[in-house]
Amino acid sequence: MGKPSTMQKKRWALMILLVLSLSTVGVILVRSSFDSCRIGGKITGHQFAEEKFRSAPERPNPLGFMKSKLVLLVSHELSLSGGPLLLMELAFLLRGVGAEVVWITNQKPNEEDEVISSLEHKMLDRGVQVISAKGEKAMDTALKADLIVLNTAVAGKWLDAALKENVVKALLPKILWWIHEMRGHYFKPDLVKHLPFVAGAMIDSHATAEYWKNRTQARLGMKMPKTYVVHLGNSKELMEVAEDSVAKRVLREHVRESLGVRNEDLLFGIINSVSRGKGQDLFLRAFQESLEIIKEKKLLQVPTMHAVVVGSDISKQTKFETELRNFVQEKKLQSYVHFVNKTLAVAPYIAAIDVLVQNSQARGECFGRITIEAMGFKVPVLGTAAGGTVEIVVNGTTGLLHGAGKEGMKPLAKNIVKLAVEVEVRLTMGRNGYERVKEMFLEHHMSHRIALVLKEVLQHAKAHALQ
Ligand SMILES: *[C@@H]1O[C@H](CO)[C@@H](O)[C@H](O)[C@H]1NC(C)=O
Ligand SMILES: *[C@@H]1O[C@H](CO)[C@@H](O)[C@H](O)[C@H]1NC(C)=O
Ligand SMILES: *[C@@H]1O[C@H](CO)[C@@H](O)[C@H](O)[C@H]1NC(C)=O
Repeated sequence: MGKPSTMQKKRWALMILLVLSLSTVGVILVRSSFDSCRIGGKITGHQFAEEKFRSAPERPNPLGFMKSKLVLLVSHELSLSGGPLLLMELAFLLRGVGAEVVWITNQKPNEEDEVISSLEHKMLDRGVQVISAKGEKAMDTALKADLIVLNTAVAGKWLDAALKENVVKALLPKILWWIHEMRGHYFKPDLVKHLPFVAGAMIDSHATAEYWKNRTQARLGMKMPKTYVVHLGNSKELMEVAEDSVAKRVLREHVRESLGVRNEDLLFGIINSVSRGKGQDLFLRAFQESLEIIKEKKLLQVPTMHAVVVGSDISKQTKFETELRNFVQEKKLQSYVHFVNKTLAVAPYIAAIDVLVQNSQARGECFGRITIEAMGFKVPVLGTAAGGTVEIVVNGTTGLLHGAGKEGMKPLAKNIVKLAVEVEVRLTMGRNGYERVKEMFLEHHMSHRIALVLKEVLQHAKAHALQ
C-alpha cells in the first residue's frame, strides 16, 4: 500500500457514482430528434465526475492564452444531446484557463424544464454566466466579446432574430461557427446566410466539412468561410474509468448481471438513439445472420452471443422500435437481444461490451463520439464505412468496416463471426484502438486543436476591428 489513499478514495467515489448513475438509467432521456450526427456523445463524464475528482494538469494548457478573454457561447437549445453538451465542455475548458464565459440558449421552452435547469446550474457552479438570449445584456456581451461561438447551424437563427443588421456586421469577424450536423434541411438561407462572412467554421470531421462545402455551394451558391476540421477527444473522466481495471470490472459485472449475460458470453453493443438512421435494424439482422453462420459451420468453440441495443425509448412507440422488437420475437432472440433505455451514462455499457457496432447509415456519423469512447475502453469497433467513422476506425487494425445500407448487412454478419471466433484478433484490435485514442483522441488533443482555431479567429477579429 505505497500509494496515497486519496487515489483509492477517488477511484471508489467515481465507481459509486457510476453505478448510481447506472441504476437511474432511463431517468435522464436523451432527445432522439436532434440530428443525424449527434456525436454519439451521450456521455462526457461531467455528470458523474465532478471537479473534486480531477487530477492536476500535467502539461501547459494549450488554451492558456484565452485567460481573461470574454467569450459568448450561443447554443441553439439546452438539452442532453450531443451538440449542447459539447459546447458545455468547451465552456468548462475555457473556464479552466480563466476565460470569462457567457452562455445564451436561443430556443427555450416556456414552461419550467428539469433538464435545462439542472444543466444551467451545473454551468453556474463552474462559473459560466447564463443569461437570456434576448435583451440588452446579450447584445452588450456580444459587442464586447473577444470571441463568439455559434453552436450548430440552427444557432444562426439568433443572429437574425436578436440583432440588428448593423450589429450583425460588427460581430461577424469574431464569430466561430461550430457545426456538428450533416442533414439537408440545414441548408436554408434563414439559418446560414451569414455563414460565408464569419471568421471561421469548425467542423467535427473531414467528411462533414466536405459535405458542407458541397451543399452550401450546390444548394445556396455559397462559399464556406475558412473551415477547420477538429476531431473530438475523450474527456479525462471517461479515460480515468477506462484505465481503471477495477472500476471497469465492477461496471462490467454490474451491467452484465442486470442483462443476464454471463462473464464468458460475448456481448455486441450498439449505443445510439434508436432510429433508422443509426441502423439498429440492420445490425439485428446481421446479428441473427451471424448466429446462423455459426450454427451452419458448427463453430462450437464460440461462446454464447448477446446483443445489447442502448438508446431505446419505447414510450415514444415509434414504428421503428416496434419493428425491432417484433423482429427479436419472431426470431426467438429474446434471451439474447437486450434493449436498454436512453441514458447519459454510457460508460458502464461500454465497459460491459466486447465489441461496439457503429452502424450509422447513409452519410454516417458526423464524428461519432461513442466510437472513440469505446476505443478508449479497448473495445474494437465494427463500423459503417461512412462519415466520421472512417476517420477514426482503421479498417483491419482497430476494427472492421462494412458498407452502409442493406449491402452492408452480410459483411457485418461476417465481421461479427470473425471477431467472435478469432479471440486474439478481437483483443488486439481493442488494444490498437486504445493506442490510437492515446495518440489522437484525448481531451488535450482536442484542446490543442481547438486552441489553434481560436488563436486564428482572435487574430482575424483583431485585424478586422482595425479597419
Ligand atoms: C463533394 O463533391 C466532390 C466533387 O463533386 C465529390 O467528389 C465528393 O464526394 C463530394 N463529397 C461529399 C461529402 O458529398
Ligand atoms: C424504460 O423506459 C420505459 C418507457 O419509458 C419504462 O416503462 C421502463 O420502466 C424503463 N426501463 C428502465 C429499466 O428504466
Ligand atoms: C476492410 O478490410 C477488409 C480486409 O481486412 C476488406 O476485406 C474490406 O473490404 C475493407 N473494407 C472497407 C470498407 O474498406
